[in-house]
Amino acid sequence: MHIHVLSVLPELLESPLQHSIMKRAQDKGILTVQVHHLRKWAVNEYGQIDDYQFGGGAGMVMMPEPLANAIEDLGKNKPFDEIIYLTPDGKTLNQSMANQLSLKENILLICGHYKGIDERIRQKYVTREISIGDYVLSGGELAAAVLIDAIGRIIPGVLNDETSALFDSFQDNLLAPPVYTRPSDWRGMKVPDILLSGDPKKIEDWRYDQAVERTEKRRPDLPK
Ligand code: ADE
Repeated sequence: MHIHVLSVLPELLESPLQHSIMKRAQDKGILTVQVHHLRKWAVNEYGQIDDYQFGGGAGMVMMPEPLANAIEDLGKNKPFDEIIYLTPDGKTLNQSMANQLSLKENILLICGHYKGIDERIRQKYVTREISIGDYVLSGGELAAAVLIDAIGRIIPGVLNDETSALFDSFQDNLLAPPVYTRPSDWRGMKVPDILLSGDPKKIEDWRYDQAVERTEKRRPDLPK
């Protein structure tokens, strides 16, 4: 899978992409992430990519021309399956969206800054608008990092234990059950006997019951 990112602050994306699972996915060649500086498509020699908003009001707006030229240049060789704009007024990211996006071949993420991007770019090119939650970040980069991580880790072959992503919280609209490791008695707090029983069927049933109970208690809003 190829992910291209358009950003005015590519540095913000460096660290999250260069470690741990995202690094492994890229080293294995399963995922490529290319971050492009939008200033490369600036409208003048001063590197201008934003301008005042029509109608007045504080805050600059990212101009349509640099964005359009960037989108068209980057999609020239291989058209994008999705062009995603990260924005607080988008649809809130969930596991099912991440699962769907992990099946795509070539996607472009657009990170907004200032007051956002000119509405006409959203109308003409953007296929999905995604928010990572009901709060406002100073730009789309951290949201893009979250989205890339959520997508990247479920691409087959990325995680060592292929099955582990299937048991994550939210994969069946269920939160994950509690987990324990050694010692079995830590400061007088004991691991549930059933996990030490060695009976896989009983353990599986217990985990499922715990997941259901946890979901009902903590996230009654999740669809059943
Ligand atoms: N850009 C600024 N805030 C955001 C959010 N909550 N989600 C996605 N992109 C954003």
